[in-house]
Amino acid sequence: MDHIPVLQHEVLQHLDPKPDENIIDGTVGNGGHASLLLEKTAPFGKLLAIDADKQQITNARHALEKYNERIVLVNGSYANIKEIAERVRFKPIHGILLDLGYSSWHVDQSGRGFSFSKNEPLDMRYGLAGLSLQGQDAGKVELTAERIVNEYKEKELAHIFAEYGEEKFSKQIARAIVGHRKVKKISTTFDLVKVIEEAVGMKYRGQNIHYATRTFQALRIVVNGELENLEKALPEALEILASGGRMAIISFHSLEDRIVKHFFQQKEKEGVITILTNKPVTASDQEVISNLRARSAKLRAIQKI
Ligand SMILES: C[S@@+](CC[C@H](N)C(=O)[O-])C[C@H]1O[C@@H](n2cnc3c(N)ncnc32)[C@H](O)[C@@H]1O
Repeated sequence: MDHIPVLQHEVLQHLDPKPDENIIDGTVGNGGHASLLLEKTAPFGKLLAIDADKQQITNARHALEKYNERIVLVNGSYANIKEIAERVRFKPIHGILLDLGYSSWHVDQSGRGFSFSKNEPLDMRYGLAGLSLQGQDAGKVELTAERIVNEYKEKELAHIFAEYGEEKFSKQIARAIVGHRKVKKISTTFDLVKVIEEAVGMKYRGQNIHYATRTFQALRIVVNGELENLEKALPEALEILASGGRMAIISFHSLEDRIVKHFFQQKEKEGVITILTNKPVTASDQEVISNLRARSAKLRAIQKI
């Protein structure tokens, strides 16, 4: 299924893009939000489109073909948003959008083990090009979900599941993983799902969350350094934004939303920004019916003073 951009109307309302303005889409994905923004910034506004995933850059290039002359596509991490914008001489910057996490394309087509309902290798990296391994980390073997579940100590696993998955049964799952891998390596999503089911499947009976959801979320966050990336990106994004410019962040779980909320509150206290969303903006019932992914989306937006 194609990725349906979430909160489309709300993103436009809060970023309020105008003709000839320049916008950065730090997570261009399949280019859904990007094309809406490009429509609004016609005829001369430019879009710097970043994605950590090389294949998503190819997808976006196709999707945004008709705006070819107004877009700059960069395969990189939004954690390096300042360096990227400077490198391609992109300014002034009137708006920045980050729509965090993975896209439906990752789940349905990447084959990298993002979903517990498909049997795939346990990979979970967005960037397969070693994006996180530049500078001092160059030469290290890249982190995958498979390496985490087969190599991390039981205590570390439990910590990851509790911290990044907010998983109540983190210790039981960690213990089961370590017990299982002594006998056989855990290589695929279904290998892992089976271990989790045996350990805590019963405890999740009657709940409307699948027993593997939180463990999978935790692994994805750690593999991709998602929280660290966000923490690095926010101050850089604010710094490069022009005065009067707007920034909108869409997050999908409470850990991300907390980081965004605290950062914005702190910067408002410092008198640097005005918060445009007192409460996070969420999807309407109607949107959730047509796009289940939207049910956990939270949008927060600011304007730079
Ligand atoms: C929710 S999707 C974005 C969908 C997009 N707004 C659209 O309308 O098609 C998130 C995208 O962010 C990308 N991504 C994840 N971490 C990233 C990072 N650190 N830097 C840049 N892109 C990242 C993923 O590869 C994915 O394509």
